[in-house]
Amino acid sequence: MSTEGRRTLDSRVRAVAGENFWNTMPLGPDGVRVVMTDGPHGVRRQVGGGDALDLEDAYPATCFPTASALSSTWDRDLLGRVGEALGVEAAALGVHVLLGPGMNIKRHPLCGRNFEYFSEDPLLSGTLAASLVRGIQSTGTGATLKHFAVNNQESFRYSVDAVLDERTLRELYLRGFEIAVRESEPWMVMCSYNSVNGTTASCNRTLLTSILREEWGFDGVVVSDWAATGPRAEALKAGLDLEMPGSELNTGELLRDTERDAVTAFALDRAVTRLDTLAEKVSTHVENTGIDANTIAKHDALAAEAAAAGAVLLTNDGTLPIDTSGSLGVIGEFAESPRYQGAGSSRINSARLTSLRDALGERDIAHLFAPGYDAARPDARDERKLAEAVAVARGCETVVLVAGLPAAAESEGVDRTSFALPQQQLDLIEAVTSVNPRTIVFLCNGSPVDMGWASTTPPAAIVEAYLGGQAGGYAIANILFGDAEPSGRLAESVPERLSDLLADPWFPGSIRQVQHREGVSVGYRHHATAGPAARFPFGYGLGYGSTEWSDFSLSATTVTPADVRWGTTTPTVYAKVRNTGGRPRRECIQVYLADAREVASPARVLAGFTSVDTAPGEEVSVEVEVSADAFHVYSPRQERWVCPPGEVIVQVGRNSADIVWESRVDVAGSDSPEGVTDERVLGAADDAGFAALLGRSIPSPRPARPFTRDSTIAEIQMSKLAGLVLPRLLRAVASRAGEKGESNQLLESAMREFPLRSLASASGGKVSWKIVDAALVVLNRLP
Ligand code: BGC
Repeated sequence: MSTEGRRTLDSRVRAVAGENFWNTMPLGPDGVRVVMTDGPHGVRRQVGGGDALDLEDAYPATCFPTASALSSTWDRDLLGRVGEALGVEAAALGVHVLLGPGMNIKRHPLCGRNFEYFSEDPLLSGTLAASLVRGIQSTGTGATLKHFAVNNQESFRYSVDAVLDERTLRELYLRGFEIAVRESEPWMVMCSYNSVNGTTASCNRTLLTSILREEWGFDGVVVSDWAATGPRAEALKAGLDLEMPGSELNTGELLRDTERDAVTAFALDRAVTRLDTLAEKVSTHVENTGIDANTIAKHDALAAEAAAAGAVLLTNDGTLPIDTSGSLGVIGEFAESPRYQGAGSSRINSARLTSLRDALGERDIAHLFAPGYDAARPDARDERKLAEAVAVARGCETVVLVAGLPAAAESEGVDRTSFALPQQQLDLIEAVTSVNPRTIVFLCNGSPVDMGWASTTPPAAIVEAYLGGQAGGYAIANILFGDAEPSGRLAESVPERLSDLLADPWFPGSIRQVQHREGVSVGYRHHATAGPAARFPFGYGLGYGSTEWSDFSLSATTVTPADVRWGTTTPTVYAKVRNTGGRPRRECIQVYLADAREVASPARVLAGFTSVDTAPGEEVSVEVEVSADAFHVYSPRQERWVCPPGEVIVQVGRNSADIVWESRVDVAGSDSPEGVTDERVLGAADDAGFAALLGRSIPSPRPARPFTRDSTIAEIQMSKLAGLVLPRLLRAVASRAGEKGESNQLLESAMREFPLRSLASASGGKVSWKIVDAALVVLNRLP
């Protein structure tokens, strides 16, 4: 090859890997370095060169409520406005593309990253993700859907293979991504670390090319999750365009492979073209000038609005909202030092932070305060703190008790180990409610907790406030005094106990495999079909005031399936909502489909929703569109989406367990139900059933020996002499990270669970493939 040709090839190979942690190499005609950063609910623009694992040192930006709270708003418009705000802040901080939203399905309440995800339902996740993406991209900033796909746990996330049947994959785990890709045209999609049905996501051609591009029409850039790239040429050919962060190791290997293999060379050119197109989209972008004071103030108000709109009123004996005349006791350390976001890559250096006590102070509301518990030592019982809190509770007319999960419980990189609130807080809730029945509990957590106490020692009211972002304190105060309605509806079920969940015995699996034996029976799909009922069902939320719903009808009673699933709406559900209370109320009208065709399916599945604001006495006409897609099911045998003929019941609900109206529609059509009648998609009872559902024998997890580049530290540590060869790798990576508080958990889990491949590429060139492969030879010879 000529020198010129060689230089060109070199620069093209370099173009498909990041220059550092956050930048691409110069791309496009103008040589733009595309700057990316997290994230989903705020911009984490790292201070400094951005070539470190540091998770904490970032420019100030607005910390919006995390995805659990945003999704509970069920409000497309609000998500759009939050997206727009994120896009504006990204541009002000010199960021071209945000690495969010995260939109994996909440398969189990203990997934450590649930706070970053929207819902257990793909229609809700996909629709809200699309709104957020459209909002972000309307400002000229790009958005990234992540983590594609079936990344529903933090344990073993770098090594686990998700084994699931094709119908469940399509209808539950991919459908949200499909909706968001089709509706919002995101600039990027990020592949996950895990494998799906035997192939690591970064090298999964079926996912990254056949489905994402060829079926859904995605035309943006596929980026790796950070250090998730498998063998580089294989990944490139499968459809992974950009490796982040870049690594000399993979770049060197890719250069050799490209010279040898025409298919790799072709894939390289394709990826470079896509990256150049991305660079052209961003080339008008600006410098990091910081976010101006007006924007910070405006976005703080938006964050407060979103936090209240996403807060879910779970119980209320009429105590809420309160007036300001009576004496008020405030209990709980989180009322003073709020729990408002999760740990890990989404962590924001909040531009502002308002606790409930700050918000009360701004309103001049006198109150007594007791911390009640020690959030940093959740398991230690503190008699003095408990007694202080009880004294406050006794002395005040109304008590606000702010409880929640300790910060360390909810982090990227680790799953939660317990469903319960810390014992300290359970004791506190019991003691306080028993001396003061006018106790209102606000919960601050990113994912459901065991709420047995809601029936054994019921407080006057419970508000699930989630992780409300920097202005969560304002939201709680506004909800308390009725200046804002906690108008959220649960985007996830709150089960009575984990053992009620079909997925529970199979979560999180083991280091090399997680089996999805529950099929599509996740969340309300299971509660509504085979029970037991959830403590608080999907879609549930009381809000303030009251409404009556009437005049239901459908735009059609026959559905003629369109040849294409997308772009048609059929039928529309009409209803009237009359505000019968004395105050404004936001209502959420949910439409479910109960399939009565010859199709195995859950009792009901969400098919559409609309939120509407009503003033006292007002009657509002509501329309809920149901997409033709909702009538389709995926047939693995026919290898396509099908719409068999028969009866489907359209149901209107206040939540997934409270259906207020239903009507039948006849689906006309000639699709065969072949491949969609197997009831085992609702849960396979035994090995044989799961194998039948998979259509193949259950794969054995990859054996730990022989060790390969994909072996994890935890696997290798099982070998006796591993201690002699591993420290160098670990030191190299650790030296790139600073002192981290909560982020340590992420780093520690990475050190344990990273495959050698990722560790080597994250070592910044300090460890070569030669060292890794030589170490492997030695390790494999040893017992
Ligand atoms: C996370 C991604 C994140 C990336 C960059 C990864 O560990 O899984 O969600 O965008 O780091 O911070």
